[in-house]
Amino acid sequence: MRPWETLAEADAPDRQRLELRRRGHEYLIRAGGWDLMSSRDDDSARALATVGCGALSKRAGVRVLIGGLGMGYSLAAACELLDPDAEIEVAELVPAIVEWNRGLIAELAGRPLDDPRVRVYQGDVVTRIEQVRDHFDAILLDVDNGPDPLAHDHNARLYGDAGLRAAHRALRKAGVHAVWSYSDAGNFARKLGRAGFEASVHPVANHGRDRGRTHAIWLGRKR
Ligand SMILES: C[S@@+](CC[C@H](N)C(=O)[O-])C[C@H]1O[C@@H](n2cnc3c(N)ncnc32)[C@H](O)[C@@H]1O
Repeated sequence: MRPWETLAEADAPDRQRLELRRRGHEYLIRAGGWDLMSSRDDDSARALATVGCGALSKRAGVRVLIGGLGMGYSLAAACELLDPDAEIEVAELVPAIVEWNRGLIAELAGRPLDDPRVRVYQGDVVTRIEQVRDHFDAILLDVDNGPDPLAHDHNARLYGDAGLRAAHRALRKAGVHAVWSYSDAGNFARKLGRAGFEASVHPVANHGRDRGRTHAIWLGRKR
């Protein structure tokens, strides 16, 4: 098997070391020694947008927040699904990831950052969510492995009661909170319910590195 080649390295704001690697056609982003995202796992990243945007109520000028950018697959799928008058914001914590998506890995997802509907919020998606009320129609989250376990400890805030209540406040009426998760284990549906969402879970088959494993998209609709 070919060895991995390191294309670039950077530090995340929490000082975790990030690495962009390539082996043949496969690209990999590693964070703190863990595999964060592989280009072979594009299907389930796209599914976050398919499930989340598919649950949107029909209305003009929908506003969607995606966190984070990764390799841009969720963003690209949202761009394909949403109308020309949509506003699509992508929050990304690590400046180097935005830079890689404009350069080294821009073609993987078809350059979604070039879409004129897309704006980048450079920073923590938690902060962006806390800044607004009744603003977004959908929040699509794939910043970590899901509610548990976490690659970045600070992301625990997103999945706890206070984080879910903040997402609930940031959404418009009947808005959708979609969360990618490595598995459907745990009591996340109950937490969504406690924060004022009607919860459901959508299984997503992995056709990439973890072929045979089923991931989950948790969906909360604002009650
Ligand atoms: C698993 S990747 C996302 C994959 C993405 N769905 C795709 O289509 O490629 C996780 C991304 O979230 C970013 N991230 C992690 N914590 C974050 C946070 N609190 N706010 C914003 N971005 C964050 C990471 O830097 C990384 O780019």
